[in-house]
Amino acid sequence: MRVDIVSIFPEYFAPLDLSLIGRARANGTLRLAVHDLRGWTHDVHRTVDDTPYGGGPGMVMRPEPWGEALDALAPAELTPPRLLVPSPAGVPFTQAMAHELAAEPHLLFACGRYEGIDQRVLDHAATRMPVTEVSLGDYVLFGGEVAVLVILEAVTRLLPGVLGNAGSLAEESHAHGLLEAPMYTKPATWRGLPVPEVLRSGDHGRIARWRRDEALVRTGRRRPDMLTGLDPQRLDKRDVAA
Ligand code: ADE
Repeated sequence: MRVDIVSIFPEYFAPLDLSLIGRARANGTLRLAVHDLRGWTHDVHRTVDDTPYGGGPGMVMRPEPWGEALDALAPAELTPPRLLVPSPAGVPFTQAMAHELAAEPHLLFACGRYEGIDQRVLDHAATRMPVTEVSLGDYVLFGGEVAVLVILEAVTRLLPGVLGNAGSLAEESHAHGLLEAPMYTKPATWRGLPVPEVLRSGDHGRIARWRRDEALVRTGRRRPDMLTGLDPQRLDKRDVAA
């Protein structure tokens, strides 16, 4: 997968050299480039923002450098990338969207700062490529950079060969529309707290059933919204009988 990121703070992306993302970059699974938006400015101050039309606090990112950046990174004659613009006004980022993005050959992230990017940049880009404004959640960050780190981590771990144990993808929270059951490792008793007996029983049927029950209880307590949204087709027969 190819990924381009445009930001006025390229330094934010130094962690993308580390750990499994760093390895995915080193082995070519992820071809990632970070670009400084100010490279597409032409004034001595390398200006990227201005006051908002209609008034109001803060500054808005000017369209010209963004237009040039997108022209350079998504030239009209090539297959367009999918443009992702992190914004608290975007659609919620979910595990389902992470899977969708992991199947794309080329992602282009545009990191807004201040009060965001002039809307015409997105409207113009949308005539040439798919554009998604995406939100991490109902809170406001300084800019899109941290959101891109989060989204990229969620997407990269779904790329083939990135995780050592592909089974962990199948088991994890959100994989089946439920939160994952609690996990334990050695020692069997720690500070007087034993690991649940069933997990040491060696009975794989019982263990799977216990994990499923714990996942349901946990999801019901912490995320009742996920239970109401659960597709009845995906419920285990025994969940319904219980
Ligand atoms: N930029 C600012 N706040 C954001 C949020 N909640 N999600 C994504 N990008 C953002």
